[in-house]
Amino acid sequence: MHVRRTRRALLAWYEPRRRAWPWRRTRDSYRIWVSEVMLQQTRIAVVAPAYERFVARFPTLAELAAASEEEVLSAWSGLGYYRRARNLHAAARCLTAAGAMRFPRDRSAALALPGVGAYTSAAVLSIAFGQVHAAVDGNVVRVLSRLARLPPPDGRGQPHAAVSEALLDPERPGDWNQALMELGQRVCTPRVPSCGDCPLAGECQAHAADVVDAYPVPRARPAREAVDLDMLVVHDRRGAVLLERGVFPHLDHLWLPLTRTDDVAGTDDVERESVRHAIVKRDFCVRVWSRCEAAGRLRERATRSAVSERKVFAPADLADIGRSSLLIKVLRCAQLLD
Ligand code: ADE
Repeated sequence: MHVRRTRRALLAWYEPRRRAWPWRRTRDSYRIWVSEVMLQQTRIAVVAPAYERFVARFPTLAELAAASEEEVLSAWSGLGYYRRARNLHAAARCLTAAGAMRFPRDRSAALALPGVGAYTSAAVLSIAFGQVHAAVDGNVVRVLSRLARLPPPDGRGQPHAAVSEALLDPERPGDWNQALMELGQRVCTPRVPSCGDCPLAGECQAHAADVVDAYPVPRARPAREAVDLDMLVVHDRRGAVLLERGVFPHLDHLWLPLTRTDDVAGTDDVERESVRHAIVKRDFCVRVWSRCEAAGRLRERATRSAVSERKVFAPADLADIGRSSLLIKVLRCAQLLD
């Protein structure tokens, strides 16, 4: 592979075609950071409107740091992987507590922030500040795997990290990183790549050997765990609902209906349908139950302990909390949401 030719060909492809995503209209390191955190585990078409809403609500690092966790999680609704939002918020608070008003320019200071790893730091520093760091996301791994016929990356991201550093255009690192990601999104796609449209086809070792389909070499997948459980939506006649947090695995900071264990189950509970929900390595099948109670009785159930909390939410309040899609599915199933 010819490094200079590869750089020239990719940037010439990218320049006239680059998508006008909202985070590409700014050099503000805070906004670029927000976009990169969102883009890590969420599809780009979902991120675009959520990003605009988030930066309209928290236009600066200082405003994000000053917000409550509840407000931040609410603004994150629909993006999933809420730990990212909590880390972003915690990092904003670390920075403002130390008197900083922007994302650190120093790589090791950036890496010390909660939720900021090799990818996020390289992406923000290259795009916002023009620093020469290669950002390797899943799309880039796929492109490089084909381009240089690489084996699956090891625990430290090698050999992809080294290959990407060698290819990175030092004159335009931010554009280079985004061009490689965009090539992976639009041309060098997982299943049916458009090699006929690829600016790097002439440099691509997998294409030359006609083995593009064999790359990236699949890694053995960890098994997924199937988990069955029951949830109970306790509500009153006006649609106020009892929710809890601190209990559900992976979503312990979000409000959800009660997990229906023997100590909360009642003989009059009405069984609804089941909903399916995948989180990290688990596939949940949640059987939904509902129970209508007097408003006073419902309020008596609100409790708080060191690890969990139960609270009653009126229908209007539900709009203001971080709503996981599991909560929405279960409330719909119990006919408390349209
Ligand atoms: N995926 C992650 N960051 C991106 C960016 N800046 N442009 C395009 N796709 C991305």
